Amino acid sequence: MAEDEQELDSSELGTQDYWDKTYSLEINNFKHHGDVGEVWFGEDSALRIVRWLSTKPELVASTDRIIDLGCGNGMMLVELHDEGFTNLTGVDYSQNAIDLASQVLRDKSRSHITLQTFDILENDIADLGSTFRVAHDKGTYDAVSLNPDNPKEKREKYIKNVKEMLDPQGILIITSCNWTEDELINHFKIYFELLHSIPTPSFRFAGQTGNLISSLVFRKR
Ligand SMILES: C[S@@+](CC[C@H](N)C(=O)[O-])C[C@H]1O[C@@H](n2cnc3c(N)ncnc32)[C@H](O)[C@@H]1O
Repeated sequence: MAEDEQELDSSELGTQDYWDKTYSLEINNFKHHGDVGEVWFGEDSALRIVRWLSTKPELVASTDRIIDLGCGNGMMLVELHDEGFTNLTGVDYSQNAIDLASQVLRDKSRSHITLQTFDILENDIADLGSTFRVAHDKGTYDAVSLNPDNPKEKREKYIKNVKEMLDPQGILIITSCNWTEDELINHFKIYFELLHSIPTPSFRFAGQTGNLISSLVFRKR
């Protein structure tokens, strides 16, 4: 595993402008057609995570604080709520995402879930209140990594900030399509150790087997 991996090619998905525009369109779609918009990596990937969490009461109690980092339309919060987790917060730096999530949660009678406009890289972690037992990320570290401006620095700040928002027994559950399992372990090893790899669908091509996404559970060191 190389210590000095290359950064990803930057993309508009790494900019807030892209997400503001995307969620502005998705708010319209939701208003007119009731369509909640894209669930990143599909509904199954969210369900695999929620089901895994629900089998680990020794790690996470139903009342423990859980934060969804870059919550987008809020659908992961809905899944967590429906599995019985009661202390949920969703954050996103796009106000449009938070507006969409708030409409989705209201529509599904889950308005008591906390939503906050919050930039994981820029805002003060203390503004989130006490620490969390679980931080969940599906596609947000990928977006941070695609930033056209100093992505390595941003990734490292993200990792440090997530470490700081977790309590000493805290875990991070991260799903990525841009980084392999080994790369994620390498990035996060400064503050986290691998606890579990949640199986994801694999494909076979030219005699090789691979995974399109990695879904990992890290424990804070
Ligand atoms: C690929 S989308 C995933 C959305 C959602 N987690 C899902 O699974 O459907 C990435 C999300 O991260 C948010 N995001 C990116 N950088 C962020 C940052 N620095 N702080 C907070 N949210 C961020 C974007 O606005 C977007 O909602």
